[in-house]
Amino acid sequence: MKSHALAASKADPMIVTIQQHILHEQRKHSPHATGSFSWLLSGITLATKMTEARVRRAGLLDVIGSAGGINVQGEVQQKLDVYADQALVHCLGVRENVAIIASEESEEAITFDGRDGPGKYVVVFDPLDGSSNIDVNVSVGTIFSILGLPEGAKSSDDPSIACLQPGIKQLAAGYVVYGSSTIMVYTTGHGVHGFTLDPSFGAYVLSHENIRMPEQGNYYSSNDAYWDTFPKPYQDYLSHLRSGGMGRRYALRYIGSLVADFHRTLLRGGVFLYPPTDKNPEGKLRLLYEANPVAFIAEQAGGRACSGTQRIMEIEPTEIHQRTPLIVGGKSEMEALEQFVTPRRIAPSLAG
Ligand code: AHG
Ligand code: MN
Ligand code: MN
Repeated sequence: MKSHALAASKADPMIVTIQQHILHEQRKHSPHATGSFSWLLSGITLATKMTEARVRRAGLLDVIGSAGGINVQGEVQQKLDVYADQALVHCLGVRENVAIIASEESEEAITFDGRDGPGKYVVVFDPLDGSSNIDVNVSVGTIFSILGLPEGAKSSDDPSIACLQPGIKQLAAGYVVYGSSTIMVYTTGHGVHGFTLDPSFGAYVLSHENIRMPEQGNYYSSNDAYWDTFPKPYQDYLSHLRSGGMGRRYALRYIGSLVADFHRTLLRGGVFLYPPTDKNPEGKLRLLYEANPVAFIAEQAGGRACSGTQRIMEIEPTEIHQRTPLIVGGKSEMEALEQFVTPRRIAPSLAG
């Protein structure tokens, strides 16, 4: 692990937990912070540890398979979808600074009546991403995005309205991959940091400090089975990558869990695409709790994310479960995409 300025524990000078890191970042960037934000994040880390414990014992407990319900997306809910959702609702519900939450698994946003009191945060999440992989021991994850409660919001307002903010308003975003190890990656707009869960004492420990996405990678990641239903510009772009047009022949990696496919893309570079298809002409992935958090992290790590026509984080949402095409990747791959898919530049003005 690299050296850093955080105070390490006397017991183990190598260890920096996620809680220490968040507090340190807060003091550095907002000297008057009250610690309220780290209290909120600790609710998310706790819920993900509860989910991870279930994921690790999936074959032993009665957690595999369908829960019998259908969620708002019209998709069959798996038992772990329901458990992960309940864990987050519970852990965030007892944090008085959380005013509103919205989940993939619930049609409406939920309010905790904190809006006239100390509640100042809105949290939107996909509690269990990659449901189709749960029963077959393939990586799944959790994704979240944190927004501020809009000024003037009142308890009488529809809580969903407070969630309809473009991604550029995110205060923080992150995800957890329950993979060969469990890792949490987050940003608050000051770089991207990764923490691996040490199962021997149950803490997320800093393992990937200041992650940068490689400018060019070797893989593209998309569901090739839908190739013939991708719009032609995407087919041409993928042909360009596959045929060596970028100076190398790209290989394919596709897991089918956005968090896992994105995590590889973040660390190894390349591009992930879920373009419009015949079945999902607006794209499949959800703007608020899939595309926006991934876009925030990608940009903070030097990458880009667009919908094919605009920067993901500038899309003004109109519904909490709205879908969007998503293309996210390193600088070179995303610059090349612009020659095929959109005449408009999608680079953020902030990222270099
Ligand atoms: P979820 O399990 O939360 O519904 O998300 C599934 C998503 C995403 O994780 C993945 O990238 C995509 O569905 C895969 O879709 P295809 O099976 O159509 O490729
Ligand atoms: Mn998902
Ligand atoms: Mn999900």
